[in-house]
Amino acid sequence: MELFDSKYFFYSDNKLYCEEIPVDDILAQTGTPAYIYSKKFFVDTFKELDSSLQNIKHTVFYAVKSNFNLSVIKTFSDLGSGVDVNSEGELYRVMKLGINPKKIILSGVGKTANEIKLALETNLLMIKAESEEELVLINEVAKDMNVIAPVAIRVNPDVDAKTHPYISTGLAENKFGIDVSAAFKFYLQKEKFGNIEFTGIDMHIGSQITTVEPFVSAVEKMAEVFLKLKSAGLTLKHFDLGGGIGVVYHHEKTFSVKEYADALIPILKKLDCEIFIEPGRFMTANGGILAAQVQYSKKNHDKNFIIVDAGMNDLIRPSIYAAYHHIQPLEINPGRKEIIADVVGPVCESGDFLGKARNISELKRGDYLVVMSAGSYGMTMASNYNARRRPPEILVDGNNFQIVRSRETFEHILYDENF
Ligand code: LLP
Repeated sequence: MELFDSKYFFYSDNKLYCEEIPVDDILAQTGTPAYIYSKKFFVDTFKELDSSLQNIKHTVFYAVKSNFNLSVIKTFSDLGSGVDVNSEGELYRVMKLGINPKKIILSGVGKTANEIKLALETNLLMIKAESEEELVLINEVAKDMNVIAPVAIRVNPDVDAKTHPYISTGLAENKFGIDVSAAFKFYLQKEKFGNIEFTGIDMHIGSQITTVEPFVSAVEKMAEVFLKLKSAGLTLKHFDLGGGIGVVYHHEKTFSVKEYADALIPILKKLDCEIFIEPGRFMTANGGILAAQVQYSKKNHDKNFIIVDAGMNDLIRPSIYAAYHHIQPLEINPGRKEIIADVVGPVCESGDFLGKARNISELKRGDYLVVMSAGSYGMTMASNYNARRRPPEILVDGNNFQIVRSRETFEHILYDENF
């Protein structure tokens, strides 16, 4: 059985710790399933990324969609990070934290008029536009409000990010962005977009990208547009690289942020503008785990199943992307036999699994296991399917931990229903 550990989640005396706390001490208080995050991971990771870009004027805008717990967002914003939001709900969250509007950017391929209005009322730093119709609408809303909207066009560079098709966004076939030639044209239509100030250019080619080449190809294409616009008289203030930096879930070979910076900075320096970056997964994935308790184990037709109390409603990535998350016991019990088993949840779907054909030590009813690398797109994609309550979230900081979101109650789930 392979054990994944790190500086933030590691075994000592056969017990899993998060920072300085045995995870079972936390679970004794919170029960399972539960998401547990390491604050130190978030802090170190932000600093690592931010300092790798120190040779170029830049701002990190944490993509809150990967983990929008208020305490997690606050951890990053306290370090000087901006935020990238994708909806009015995410905007509401970050405003609740009192984040400076000039540190907020708004993304989204289908923004409503209301979202655009809200963004303008909030006076945030920049709104992205992903279609001609959206540009027209932003212009109209800004005109009605008698303001000038700061806009960056999200350009679709038609580059293959070589990632899972559901999270690839920079190909011509994807719904995102505006193609290079149309974007160039819109940028220069000053008359048509009189209530827009084009402040920047943006890309986001996909997520969980494990080589730097797609970024380099996309940035080269976009840099060309940037410089052509400059020659045509439009000098943009910022160039947004989007998110997408891949992380290790299993044995992926990824690149370091230094390699990323070394490959991109020489191209970006020529633009002489501020660089934005919108990482989500890189900042949070390996800073979180999902802990679950074994309910039953059984052997059916020679196949082993470990049935736990966390399911696809808590962590949907294995079900929808066939994503690998490492699974291991909370406590190592050297006497236990190793088996190959599917680790499944209690939801009434065969797609409800956390891992298939895993080498793991035999686990008994009442034992705990943990699903690793669950800090991104875990809780933010959790649902109430089967009327299950979403799990609590716990933030560990050294030898302290705080329940930063408590387990939902059944009344929470019924809150807005009438009969
Ligand atoms: N910026 C924009 C405009 C985005 O759409 C995204 C992610 C990001 C930044 C952050 O990307 P990251 O650094 O996290 O790769 N639910 C999927 C991932 C969807 C990503 C959506 N957009 C998953 O669980 O793998």
